[in-house]
Amino acid sequence: MDLLSPRPGVVQIKPYRPTRPPKDGRRWIDLSLTQNPLGPSPAALAAYRNAAGQIHRYPDWSQDSLRHAIARRYAIDVERVVCTAGSEELIHLVTQAFAGPGDEVLCHERGYRGFLKAIRASGATAVVAAERDMVVDVQAMIDRANERTRICFLANPNNPTGTYIPAEYVQRLRAGLPPHTLLVLDSAYADYCRRPDYSDGTEIVETSDNVLMIRTFSKMHGLAGLRVGWGYGPAAVVEAVNAIRGAFNVATPAQAAATAALGDAEHEEATYAHNAEWLPWLSRELERVGLRVYPSVCNFVLARVPTDPSLGVQAVIDHLAGRGILVKPVADYGLPDCLRITVGREEENKLLVAALAEILG
Ligand SMILES: Cc1ncc(COP(=O)(O)O)c(C=O)c1O
Repeated sequence: MDLLSPRPGVVQIKPYRPTRPPKDGRRWIDLSLTQNPLGPSPAALAAYRNAAGQIHRYPDWSQDSLRHAIARRYAIDVERVVCTAGSEELIHLVTQAFAGPGDEVLCHERGYRGFLKAIRASGATAVVAAERDMVVDVQAMIDRANERTRICFLANPNNPTGTYIPAEYVQRLRAGLPPHTLLVLDSAYADYCRRPDYSDGTEIVETSDNVLMIRTFSKMHGLAGLRVGWGYGPAAVVEAVNAIRGAFNVATPAQAAATAALGDAEHEEATYAHNAEWLPWLSRELERVGLRVYPSVCNFVLARVPTDPSLGVQAVIDHLAGRGILVKPVADYGLPDCLRITVGREEENKLLVAALAEILG
């Protein structure tokens, strides 16, 4: 063994390299990350600028204003809310706090890859339950749980599939897991899903002592660049996360902007309405040009490129890049013939479909 080497789990992690628009002076249409096409809330932007004069000071370690704003907005107990630098940090912190070498952590086949990264970094063993046609299979997850399972991750809705399972199924999953297993419900895209049978999981947190819900300001609120996420869970779980998080993990302008974003209902509604209009349009048009589109409740779609030996996924990606459009390959999810495409602004969506028609049509 080398003298200096990371833990075996860390070595297994393939560094995440998001597609980046080349710095070639062109104006790229970036549909490769699940960002808000309308930009940030104007109220958040104003609060961010307002906080600029305070950046010589450390942030409020207690995250009081932001936690109270979250608690008021969602009618939840402020003492059981914790904020982190993006929800990604919370996924890492909770894994580190509850799992380690010798433990197992459950996740699902096409589940958000941030889970696998956190599990490997912690030294725990990842156990992956099969899905059915891009949808989480609750029974398969329950079947893989055992006395060593410390955490079960569920992204609902999930990235990159865009699919969700009803609240009733989430309840079934919770009930089927051993009591020593923490169910971590990642509801990053909850704001986009207003189906009557869907829930972000708040009421499951309220009625159990082994469920943590995770949310983010990166999607609906358009604050991906500021890195703000939060969790709501049992006091013992929140305490453990607070014990290991950096005291100043959420920057002052980020706390201020996120607090203001929660009060900007107009921006939220505009974002929701935009997605409600363009998600079905994009799904329909992508099908029309020959892609198979999975039903999504998020701000993106998963689309399968038709099997054609003369035209692979890479050729489609390259063609779009030639037109200044970036989309996300998802081969690392075991989906080498699929692309994840985020809903853009009207003109961006139309340019995307026109570019795809050129190569597929
Ligand atoms: C399901 C899911 N969870 C968590 C995250 C992490 O988001 P952030 O760290 O920006 O809050 C993402 C980002 O794409 C996601 O898709």
